[in-house]
Amino acid sequence: MKTIRVHLGRDSYQAIIGCGCLPKIGMQLAGVGHHPQVAIVTALPIGRRYSRIVYRSLIAAGYRPLLFVVPDGEQAKSLRWASSLYDRLLDARFERGAMLLALGGGVVGDLTGFVASTYLRGITFVQIPTTLVAQVDASIGGKTGVNHSKGKNLIGTFYQPKLVFTDVAALRTLPKRELIGGLAEVVKYGVIADPGLFAYLERHSSEVLKYDSEALKQIVTRSVRIKADVVGKDEREAGLRRILNYGHTLGHAIETVTGYRRYHHGEAIAIGMTFAARLAVRSGLCDEGLATRQEQLLARFGLPTSLPPRTDRQRLMAAMALDKKVKGGRLHFVLPEGLGSVSVLPVKQTLVKEMLHRFSSDT
Ligand SMILES: NC(=O)c1ccc[n+]([C@@H]2O[C@H](COP(=O)([O-])OP(=O)(O)OC[C@H]3O[C@@H](n4cnc5c(N)ncnc54)[C@H](O)[C@@H]3O)[C@@H](O)[C@H]2O)c1
Ligand SMILES: [Zn+2]
Repeated sequence: MKTIRVHLGRDSYQAIIGCGCLPKIGMQLAGVGHHPQVAIVTALPIGRRYSRIVYRSLIAAGYRPLLFVVPDGEQAKSLRWASSLYDRLLDARFERGAMLLALGGGVVGDLTGFVASTYLRGITFVQIPTTLVAQVDASIGGKTGVNHSKGKNLIGTFYQPKLVFTDVAALRTLPKRELIGGLAEVVKYGVIADPGLFAYLERHSSEVLKYDSEALKQIVTRSVRIKADVVGKDEREAGLRRILNYGHTLGHAIETVTGYRRYHHGEAIAIGMTFAARLAVRSGLCDEGLATRQEQLLARFGLPTSLPPRTDRQRLMAAMALDKKVKGGRLHFVLPEGLGSVSVLPVKQTLVKEMLHRFSSDT
């Protein structure tokens, strides 16, 4: 098993990554807390597959676990489900020393973290991520939250887990589209911070797509290292953490305009990264070769690299203008300067509009 430390002073924690390590979770928790009250929070399809392994391991380690199952999908990231979990914890008289375990994807992780950060003003929380998105992104960094009818992730907290326990073997049951969506974030890490990871993905794309354990372990470990490093330097997204938004300026706008239905988040940011790389080439920041390599790699994973022909570009511009990254009429983009190096820079809206026009009519 590999251990990566997330350095956040008193809130520092370890991310442990292994393959087939899930049955050992009980033992690992000993380093986190000894209070017998533990709740496993999971979503229906994940619980069916993995909650028994976790449950047994906890019993063997002397805990008295309670199981709380939410429905699958974004609907569970709501104040309603948070409230229902508070009720359950109160009924079971969970105390300050108790612990919540999030067993699942980003949805379960965000909901559980939010409840852990607010129940009795904060109780211990452990992430056991089971999707690629959650393993390489959502479980590290302490962003928690639920959705509101006015938008996604509008209610939330920064609250760090005490441990992130990742078993890449759990990814074997992940639907292909979910795996591929997560790969977009992995490509992102390669471009923003790790040329070696990018080259690894180029060389091992077929193993990754076949859920090869060694390949998955490699890409998860390298990605977690990058996220941990960035978050360790900028916990509250005051500066450096913004580089993690590579591809997300246009990506988020695509998700908004398509009502979060058409694209997986990773697919939308794959289009966003392709656009950002072209914008960087046009601005003279990087050479054409980088944009081409990135496009080829994304395409090899089956990720989209262009907007569908009839996309309403005005609505995309409007959605980007509402984004929190707009300052003084200028949109901010994370732009690659070379493989492994990016800058957050303002770009004139007229240039974005022009490029967007060509981006969709090209394709
Ligand atoms: N907190 C953060 O920093 C952060 C970062 C990125 C994303 N997020 C949030 O995470 C959410 C998306 O996360 P996600 O992509 O993991 O989605 P998800 O949690 O909805 O999981 C995707 C699907 O995969 C299924 N699944 C999970 N693990 C499985 C497994 N091992 N085998 C089979 N099926 C499995 C789930 O049941 C679900 O149907 C969004 O709400 C997003 O806002 C948060
Ligand atoms: Zn993302």
